Amino acid sequence: MQARPDPADSADLVKVPPRKGIALSVNGQSFVHVGDPGMPLLWYLRDTLRLSGARYGCDSGLCGACTVLVNGVRTLACERSMDTLAGQSVTTVEGLAAEDGSLHPLQQAWIDEDAILCGYCQPGWLMAAADLLRRKPQPTDADIDALPNLCRCGSQPRIRRAILRAASMRRQNRHTP
Ligand code: FES
Repeated sequence: MQARPDPADSADLVKVPPRKGIALSVNGQSFVHVGDPGMPLLWYLRDTLRLSGARYGCDSGLCGACTVLVNGVRTLACERSMDTLAGQSVTTVEGLAAEDGSLHPLQQAWIDEDAILCGYCQPGWLMAAADLLRRKPQPTDADIDALPNLCRCGSQPRIRRAILRAASMRRQNRHTP
């Protein structure tokens, strides 16, 4: 009986070296992604790390529900592929509070202003607001209104109040960071 050819010897196959993996930090913890380098960050966070705070909304860069920080800068996780993240530091809403569990001023202000309605878009708003306060510690109404996030419940006036409250709390050093 004739031996069956080994498929690995086929001239049609292109040998691809094993993936080395993409090392990154998420909320202060180190991970190595060894899957598809083209996987969107949003899928990696939700499906691999089971961090569901970044939401799957439009999946096309329009709604902001997937907003996270990469090296502290607002980033749409649905549009950022894993192969761009080697050595980068990602922060999701799960990593916004301090290590001791005390809430970020934005989280406290969100509670104080009762800013959450259905809640689906709120993690994205929080992360976009964190980026805004980093850039502009004293944002104006216009700065807040310019954030590209969407809320279909109409909670924008509450969100605006919450961001202004958080900015005030930070100025008064009542909360860290
Ligand atoms: Fe990323 Fe809408 S899910 S912008």
